[in-house]
Amino acid sequence: MIGPVILVVGARPNFMKIAPIYAELEKRKINQILLHTGQHYDDNMSKIFFDDLGMPQPDIYLGIGSGSHAYQTAKVMVEFEKVCQEHKPSMVVVVGDVNSTVACSMVCAKERIPCAHVEAGLRSFDRDMPEEINRLVTDAIADYLLTPSPDGDYNLRNEGVSENRIVRVGNVMIDSLFNNIDKSKTSLIHQDLNVTIGEYGVLTLHRPSNVDDKTAFIQIISALEKIGERITIVFPLHPRTKNRAEEFGLTERLEQIPNIVITGPAGYLDFISLMAGAKLILTDSGGLQEESTALGIPCLTLRENTERPVTVTEGTNTIVGNNTEVIINAAMDVLDTGGKSGRIPELWDGKTALRIADLIERIIE
Ligand code: UD1
Repeated sequence: MIGPVILVVGARPNFMKIAPIYAELEKRKINQILLHTGQHYDDNMSKIFFDDLGMPQPDIYLGIGSGSHAYQTAKVMVEFEKVCQEHKPSMVVVVGDVNSTVACSMVCAKERIPCAHVEAGLRSFDRDMPEEINRLVTDAIADYLLTPSPDGDYNLRNEGVSENRIVRVGNVMIDSLFNNIDKSKTSLIHQDLNVTIGEYGVLTLHRPSNVDDKTAFIQIISALEKIGERITIVFPLHPRTKNRAEEFGLTERLEQIPNIVITGPAGYLDFISLMAGAKLILTDSGGLQEESTALGIPCLTLRENTERPVTVTEGTNTIVGNNTEVIINAAMDVLDTGGKSGRIPELWDGKTALRIADLIERIIE
């Protein structure tokens, strides 16, 4: 008998990448196990996404929780190894660049279990970013490298990866976005937050380089104090950011930004509804750069670089870093001119999960 395919999720940005793959494998009646490492565990960082994305409860929950990088990665490895030995999967699918991704791919490499990495080949070329290490290691050892865009193929080739491991499948997160955008119109988030569609910006912030560094955090807040004079800013607060603001004594200053609407982490449907109705997105997230491009909403990325350059060359994204003046000028430009309109990159067509499922079927047969 062919062993199950294990789909791994761990942290918030994984859920919308696995959901369409899970649904497609279900349709094809492929024996699969949905495994959640528990890297993210709060209901509003995890459970709500299963509900919103129509995924069942995970079959296996490892309950790893928070901790240092080494602790989190090692703990996932220890527990995931046991799962692999017990269930003898025919293959494992990991997505994105979080600690759970690299941990499970390392277990597969040693257990000799075929592993596919979805969202392979992305590079920021910035090793200060923990995710960059996770990307490099995962792509060095995973058997099938499923890329979202040509830059991914190019980066892998430059690293000497052989052609037969690289498969361009497109961007699976955009499948989730397109599958749910109509449903998100029932969201009451605009009413709940008392904001008017088309008249606000959305802000997300959680990168250690922005929020673990007090100077950088203050530079961004200073920019928001100016931008808030022009437009309402909706800010769903990530737990890391909330904790750091408290530690640095910045909570009050954040709350006093003009026209800021601070809220807890939003669920998937509420959040895509918020994005779709925004005039501007300010973010240091990876996924939002792609979702804003797919939605045609101008995005200012509060980082020095991006592993998703196609969102800049083809989409609506502009890299602005965390310098106060640069952020203010870029935001004012978007508010004055409407910003970049861009186009949707090739294979971000809502059909990536079909291509991934075709590949999985070929591999397990
Ligand atoms: C992780 C990912 C990052 C991704 C982000 C999305 C890595 C290296 N980083 O970063 O790539 O963009 O998720 O959110 O894997 N916490 C809670 N509740 C939770 C989860 C976390 O309160 O459910 C708090 C804890 O205090 C924890 C902190 O948030 O220490 C950071 O969580 P962690 O998983 O370490 O990293 P993220 O910053 O969320």
